[in-house]
Amino acid sequence: MNIEIREATTDDVDAALALWESDADPGRTILDEPNDVRRLLASPSGALLVAANKGEVVGTIVAGWDGWRGNLYRLVVRSDHRRQGVARGLVARAEDVLRAQGCPRITALVHLGLAEAPSFWPAVGYQHDTKIGRFVRNLG
Ligand SMILES: CC(C)(COP(=O)(O)OP(=O)(O)OC[C@H]1O[C@@H](n2cnc3c(N)ncnc32)[C@H](O)[C@@H]1OP(=O)(O)O)[C@@H](O)C(=O)NCCC(=O)NCCS
Repeated sequence: MNIEIREATTDDVDAALALWESDADPGRTILDEPNDVRRLLASPSGALLVAANKGEVVGTIVAGWDGWRGNLYRLVVRSDHRRQGVARGLVARAEDVLRAQGCPRITALVHLGLAEAPSFWPAVGYQHDTKIGRFVRNLG
């Protein structure tokens, strides 16, 4: 399998949204729209990376950088491409993107009810911080 990991373009927006829809995170509270993804692509401080197999998007990750800390979101690998190191590759590339911007620390927000994620993140070097909780508010 020859997987290419690259920065997404506007041509990838629909495929990324379809992948997220097919494996909706139970923690998701906002419906992603094409314009939201296009705004991310236009932002100099965040990146959407895709993993492509023969041009077909089979994985995604969002690397967010606010000038202080990095955050990873929307890590999804299509079910028929799992356990082949695709997510490991996406995380490594996202770390490269964040490191290049001076980011010293990264958080991955993980819904603990997900089947695979709680095993995946420690396997790629992320510690579960059980002392921190989230306080959230949607801006309408
Ligand atoms: C979590 C997810 C992204 C992992 O993608 P993946 O490409 O299969 O992961 P990798 O092949 O890179 O796995 C790297 C390591 O993580 C661990 N791991 C991954 N999936 C695992 C699973 N189902 N059970 C146990 N360990 C797992 C293993 O240690 C694995 O290394 P190994 O295969 O050599 O044993 C994928 O299962 C997925 O998309 N799940 C649904 C969406 C989701 O939960 N996303 C995460 C949101 S935070």
